[in-house]
Amino acid sequence: MSTEATPLRLGILLSGRGSNFLAIAQSIRERRLAGVEIAIVLSNVAEAAGITAAVQLGVPCAVLVSKGRPRTEHDADMIATLRAHKVDLVCLAGYMRLLSPGFIAAFSNRILNIHPSLLPAFPGLDAQQQTFEYGVKIAGCTVHFVDEHLDHGAIILQRTVPVLDSDDAHSLAERILAEEHIAYTEAIARVASGEYEIQGRRYLKR
Ligand code: GAR
Repeated sequence: MSTEATPLRLGILLSGRGSNFLAIAQSIRERRLAGVEIAIVLSNVAEAAGITAAVQLGVPCAVLVSKGRPRTEHDADMIATLRAHKVDLVCLAGYMRLLSPGFIAAFSNRILNIHPSLLPAFPGLDAQQQTFEYGVKIAGCTVHFVDEHLDHGAIILQRTVPVLDSDDAHSLAERILAEEHIAYTEAIARVASGEYEIQGRRYLKR
């Protein structure tokens, strides 16, 4: 899917802190993610710390505020911006807005998401809090392709963490986040290699 000469161009979408974006950027910088570059970081929230970080790193970035705008109209602007930056693969990294069917069709099988639970458990908002309150003993994160349903598409990989008796929701979320930062780089590398197939819901390495 990518070669040394033509790197795979990522469009990273975020709404807040941006730690997953920073982990991806660091992996690229440290050459742990070969044949990949960040084409643009896009936020739907003007105050997102992830955008401040992108500016500081000199990574191309833009804000397209979504608040008060119809989803399809906002997504059309997002699609146009991603296309203008020749994005091959869209990576949702804490992008807290549902994508329209038009967006998903525009980047069919080329959108990844990271979610802080072992899907299909605890989709939606506050997954770590949901995980903690439910009382499960194993928590974790999931990187998956995005389809038209929330936190739903074919799973590329999952990483687990034990839930400790001493945990609160915050300490659990921190340990899950550390695994997210490893998982996203690994998932992007797998997709960039092109050495996989999807059978139904199953992502399989070739
Ligand atoms: C991460 O924990 C990510 O898994 C979660 O938002 C956080 C963003 O953190 N995403 C979702 O819950 C999506 N359903 P970050 O801005 O520091 O990367």
